Amino acid sequence: MKRVAILISGGGSNMMALVRSMTGDHPARAVLVASNDPAASGLEKARAAGIATAAVDHRPFKADRAAFEAELIAHIEAAQPDILCLAGFMRVLTPGFVARFQGRMLNIHPSLLPKYPGLHTHQRALNAGDQEAGCTVHEVTAVLDDGPLLGQARVPVLAGDTAETLAARVLREEHRLYPEVLRRYAAGDHSPVFTTG
Ligand code: GRF
Repeated sequence: MKRVAILISGGGSNMMALVRSMTGDHPARAVLVASNDPAASGLEKARAAGIATAAVDHRPFKADRAAFEAELIAHIEAAQPDILCLAGFMRVLTPGFVARFQGRMLNIHPSLLPKYPGLHTHQRALNAGDQEAGCTVHEVTAVLDDGPLLGQARVPVLAGDTAETLAARVLREEHRLYPEVLRRYAAGDHSPVFTTG
């Protein structure tokens, strides 16, 4: 049984989709949900689901990313995870952190990478007049929002879409794609998954 730690910064809807998927004959189980924000509402959801949680407030560490990460890593390593899933985790990780978990760390990003790495992905897709948008699950490397593709889900951009309506359509696909990718990944199948919403 693979042990999965999930890192969040906010509501944790992707985290909960992953947690809910890891049941029955699924080859993995969630062993920790950790956040850089002690007030992240996803922590309460994880606790209600019976998952151990940890929080390290990144703000007191100011620019010392490595010191913040050292504290976070202590909590992560205590859970002895085989796989790390970033799910709405909004801190840029140092190469040191990535090196420690590379090859067993996944992230979900709300765009069809390599388009729109970084923030405000939906507004950028609308501004570009794109006919479709979506989300990507990838292995995390030292390059932000890059790394080997593990899955992508596409949705149409509809007339009258705002960043909010498009984000909601993509988020529904995120909640389908990430669990599907994790199930395969945990079973040792790293071939990419392509779906259309
Ligand atoms: C989602 O748009 C996800 O793509 C991004 O963070 C946002 C919030 O995710 N990574 P969640 O509801 O906290 O899982």
